[in-house]
Amino acid sequence: MKIVVIGTGYVGLVAGTCFAETGHFVRCVDKDEARVSMLEGGELPFYEPGLAELVARNAEEGRLLFSSDLARAVQDCLVVFLCVGTPPAEDGAADLSDVLEAAEQIGRAMDGYRIIVNKSTCPVGTTDKIKEVVAGLTAQPFDIVSNPEFLREGSAVDDFMRPDRVVVGCDDVRVEEIMKELYAPVLRTNNPFIAMDRRSAELAKYACNTMLAARISLMNELACICEEYGADITGVRKALGTDSRIGPEYLYPSLGFGGSCFPKDVTACARLAQDVGLGGGIFEAVSRANDRQQQRFAQRILDYYGGAVAEKRIACWGAAFKARTDDIRCAPALRVIDVLLEAGAAVRVFDPVAGPKLREHYGERIDVVAKCYDVLEEADGLVIPTEWREFQSPDYERMGKLMREKVIFDGRNLYDPDVVTKRGFHYISIGRRDR
Ligand SMILES: NC(=O)c1ccc[n+]([C@@H]2O[C@H](COP(=O)([O-])OP(=O)(O)OC[C@H]3O[C@@H](n4cnc5c(N)ncnc54)[C@H](O)[C@@H]3O)[C@@H](O)[C@H]2O)c1
Repeated sequence: MKIVVIGTGYVGLVAGTCFAETGHFVRCVDKDEARVSMLEGGELPFYEPGLAELVARNAEEGRLLFSSDLARAVQDCLVVFLCVGTPPAEDGAADLSDVLEAAEQIGRAMDGYRIIVNKSTCPVGTTDKIKEVVAGLTAQPFDIVSNPEFLREGSAVDDFMRPDRVVVGCDDVRVEEIMKELYAPVLRTNNPFIAMDRRSAELAKYACNTMLAARISLMNELACICEEYGADITGVRKALGTDSRIGPEYLYPSLGFGGSCFPKDVTACARLAQDVGLGGGIFEAVSRANDRQQQRFAQRILDYYGGAVAEKRIACWGAAFKARTDDIRCAPALRVIDVLLEAGAAVRVFDPVAGPKLREHYGERIDVVAKCYDVLEEADGLVIPTEWREFQSPDYERMGKLMREKVIFDGRNLYDPDVVTKRGFHYISIGRRDR
């Protein structure tokens, strides 16, 4: 099949490349010309494990092309995927300007029947809006589909190639068959292709992200209760996770969730509820709890130093919103770094892959270093906001020799408190007694 993918971000580039890998002919379009040139030159605009090899192979085979000419691309395909960003607007609702702009461009360019598939995460009713925009600009026939994407950064290629399920919302059985054919190679494991109406498909994506975010916020609140009442979240988590009705996933307490999806999708869902008089419920509570958790973690660092962090040198291991990605959008690390900078601390950060994005974000305001232990030199404390594997078994002796003050603020509960304290460190983690 000839496919066009609009948007070469984490979703579009992965989806386009994986479709090419399964034999389709794919054109990936982006309005960011610098990004397109990078991709044409064989360079990726972000880090995603396993993606570079796939892009190179499929580009080499001529099945994967990059372009900034949306109109031309749309004139030579059957299916057009929309994978553009839907960031939060000022009022918390999803900003649909990129989606609707792309829809307009598609509408103007169409010269025959097309299937327009929206993969961007959008509020219920967005595919109706896309349909209206396109229909207003062309007399050509088209169908419209909602096909939300569930991949996770850090394991995006694997998630796309072996999805738990594919959700497709459309109102025509022939289109449904085409979508089934498109996804057949990645559903050979018999994981389900779930067809439904477009509005339900749109909501399914928000449902999934808000459910996961709610679990995290609930765990984080339980962790706070543990801190205040002298309980330990580790035991509580195990007791919860072994309950077959609950299961062990997404029960890890932390300094809060971040990234380009959970925070914005929870707020967008809260807006959906508010707009129909259902505000004040769980969605808003999930965001509030997350916000408080991030603030609380930063405050615990300030409190440790009695509020006097000016002149302190704080080291930071990790800045990406989670491990295996360089994405720092809404990363909790940034919130902590901002609080520290505001209080006058000098911040030095190491992240295995997010260094360039951090430099771009902070400029000279922080020191970004290339080696894990280099950040610890003369440090008055170490903050860990990201759970990278390489932080999991540290060389405590080396750390102790490098650091001026032996204290670790662990936002991910990477270590056994007994082990850390035996090595002479103060250890402040989540939902466990300060040691
Ligand atoms: N990142 C994730 O893990 C993830 C997972 C599932 C769903 N989603 C959803 O998928 C969507 C895309 O997310 P992302 O993280 O890939 O976004 P992104 O910001 O990384 O990439 C979006 C790309 O679209 C391009 N673009 C915007 N308007 C365009 C236009 N008119 N023509 C051509 N290109 C255009 C931008 O230049 C950018 O490169 C969002 O709605 C997001 O919520 C993201």
